[in-house]
Amino acid sequence: MTKVNVVEIGPRDGFQSISCMQIPTETKIEIIDRIIASGVKHIQCTSFVSPKAIPQMSDAAQVASYCINKYPDLDFFALVPNFRGAQNAVAAGLKKVTPVISLSVSHNLNNVRKTHEQSMDEFKQIMDTFPELTLDVDIATAFGCPFEGRKTTPELVDFVGKLHDKGIRNFNICDTIGVAYPSQVRDVFTTLLKTFPDTHFSVHIHDTRNMGILNSLEAVRVGVDTVQTTLGGLGGCPFAPGATGNTATEDFVYLLNLEDYETGVDQKKLVEAAKYEVEKIPGNYSGHHIQISVEQKGF
Ligand code: COA
Ligand code: ZN
Repeated sequence: MTKVNVVEIGPRDGFQSISCMQIPTETKIEIIDRIIASGVKHIQCTSFVSPKAIPQMSDAAQVASYCINKYPDLDFFALVPNFRGAQNAVAAGLKKVTPVISLSVSHNLNNVRKTHEQSMDEFKQIMDTFPELTLDVDIATAFGCPFEGRKTTPELVDFVGKLHDKGIRNFNICDTIGVAYPSQVRDVFTTLLKTFPDTHFSVHIHDTRNMGILNSLEAVRVGVDTVQTTLGGLGGCPFAPGATGNTATEDFVYLLNLEDYETGVDQKKLVEAAKYEVEKIPGNYSGHHIQISVEQKGF
């Protein structure tokens, strides 16, 4: 059986999209506890961003500290938009961060207010200051951008090459606005895995056009061993018009388990966690399993 690492990023990508209420820290933590109880071992627990930009993430240090202290053996990490974010993440005890850079310059300017060069300088500062810190870089708008349109595989490969030259070896290839399609996903990951054999890639897909699960599966089929998804399919980027929820963790785990991939995750527990989340947080959910309220024998 081929193993697939299920990485839950809802506590960041999902929660950041909620602006109608400040989710209580205890609710965030309860949801993380329930996700972990299902067997998930990799969690993007928050982001260390400006609280003015995303007030929802203002409890980042409390959430991260809770996770690290309660589950010292699990893999927790947080998104950081700049050096300051990395400093705060390290101070909270994290050993891994996700700096974010967009393939499209327009989205990078809109999201982190930096040019590519400025973002790369910031990455260098993070690496020089914290040599022990693992950098797992998000490449946003890798398949298409709301301002610049579709992106091509050669553009992406060239861009990954520049970051690879700077020593980065872990990337999350993100379809930030949900415009990827299966043959594009296949082409992108086949090429990346072949071009950078010493580098780890994960796939991060939004479900805007109901193609999330298809695109996530396509990546796994061509050899990607790590998939980022969100509980309930909650998600969206506040700085990318039209961004919706992600591939839903409980739906994707259902598929992976049936297709004989090894996930180590109890899908029924995930569905219960997702139902709890829906009760607590009014938001944009693309998950399907959470809508099933009747018992279907054996499924
Ligand atoms: N954590 C906390 N506060 C931060 C911060 C961080 N990582 N980075 C900047 N700040 C604060 C600064 O202290 C400053 O506060 P002040 O106005 O009280 O002095 C303010 O934010 C602006 O700082 P500045 O350095 O001028 O940043 P900027 O305006 O060039 O960029 C970003 C601001 C990018 C850091 C901010 O917009 C941000 O955090 N965006 C979130 C991006 C994101 O998460 N997108 C979705 C995920 S892809
Ligand atoms: Zn995303």
